[in-house]
Amino acid sequence: MRRKTLTQYLIEQQREFGNIPAELRLLIEIVSRACKTIGYNVSKGALGGVLGSAGSENVQGEIQKKLDVISNEILLEANEWGGHLAAMASEEMEQVHHIPNRYPKGEYLLLFDPLDGSSNIDVNVSIGTIFSVLRCPDGVCEATEQDFLQPGTRQVAAGYAVYGPQTVLVLSTGHGVHCFTLDREMGSWVLTQENMRIPEDTKEFAINASNSRHWYPPVKRYVDELLLGAEGPRGKDFNMRWIASMVADVHRILTRGGIFMYPADARDPSKPGKLRLMYEANPMSFLVEQAGGAATNGAQRMLEVQPTSLHERVAVFLGSKNEVERVTGYHRQD
Ligand code: AHG
Ligand code: MN
Ligand code: MN
Repeated sequence: MRRKTLTQYLIEQQREFGNIPAELRLLIEIVSRACKTIGYNVSKGALGGVLGSAGSENVQGEIQKKLDVISNEILLEANEWGGHLAAMASEEMEQVHHIPNRYPKGEYLLLFDPLDGSSNIDVNVSIGTIFSVLRCPDGVCEATEQDFLQPGTRQVAAGYAVYGPQTVLVLSTGHGVHCFTLDREMGSWVLTQENMRIPEDTKEFAINASNSRHWYPPVKRYVDELLLGAEGPRGKDFNMRWIASMVADVHRILTRGGIFMYPADARDPSKPGKLRLMYEANPMSFLVEQAGGAATNGAQRMLEVQPTSLHERVAVFLGSKNEVERVTGYHRQD
C-alpha cells in the first residue's frame, strides 16, 4: 500500500477545504522538520552529551535541561527565515521572540513547549514538543504579548510530536486529528492514522495522585468515586496511568480514550494549576475537541478562556467527553 506523506496530506487538505494556504503549509512543514531534528537529538542521549541540566532557570523558575534549551533553539532557528511568522513565544523564553529584521515577516504567531516532560528526559521515557498557531491581528507590524492573548478557539492549527518507541506527529488544522509516523529510512512523516477519535466513555484516568491531600473537594470526590470501582457509585473498575509527560498521556487518550487531569490545588492558591494555557492546555484542548473529546478548566470550556498573560497557568481536565463533563459538573455543584 502506498501511504501519504505529510506534504501530500497538506496539499490535498488545501484543495478540499481551502484551509491550509501556502504560508501555513510552510509553517507546518518547518515545525515538523524541526521536530525531526529534536527527535534526533533526543535519541542520541548520552552519546550526544545532551542529558542533564543546563544550569539555568526558565521564567517559571524551573531548572532547564540541556535538551529544553537545544529544542528551543532548533525551533527558533528553523522558523525565523521562512517569512511565515510575525513572532514566536515559548515556554523557555520570558518575552515574545521577534523575527530578525533581515527576514520578511508573515501573518502567523507560533507558540511552543519545545520539550514537554522534561523530568523524563534522563530516564528515557517518552517526551515531546507541543505547538499552537494563531493569526497575528491585522495591521500589527511588531507583534507584542498582547497580540498572542487570543482564546484557544482562534487557533488555526495545533499539534505535537512524541519522541517515544515510535516518533509521531499529531496534527489538526480544524478538520479532524491525524497522526503521522516518522519513517526514519526515508526521513519523511507518513500518514498512519486519519481522524483519531476519543471514545466518550473510558475506564482509565490520569492524575498525579501524590497531590491528593491538596486537592479541592470536587476533584477529591471525583477521584474517590473512580477508586471505589465496581463497589462504588460508578459501578465499574477504573485503571490509572500517569506518565508525567502531558504529550504522552494525551497521545494515549487520543489513541484509546481516558481522562487527564492536572487540577489547581491548595498548595499555592495563587497558582491556578501547573500547566500553561497558551502552549500546553490550548493546543491539546483543540486536538481533543477535534477528536470528539472535551476539555475544561473545571469551570468553563478551555478554548474559551480569555488569556491574560503569555505564561499563565490553568487547571486542566481533558479527554473522554462523559468523564470531563462529570468532573466539570462536580465543580459547578460545589
Ligand atoms: P514541562 O516538562 O514542559 O515543564 O511539562 C511537564 C508537565 C507535563 O508534561 C506533565 O503532565 C506534568 O508537568 C507533570 O507534572 P508532575 O511532575 O507534577 O507530575
Ligand atoms: Mn510541558
Ligand atoms: Mn517544556
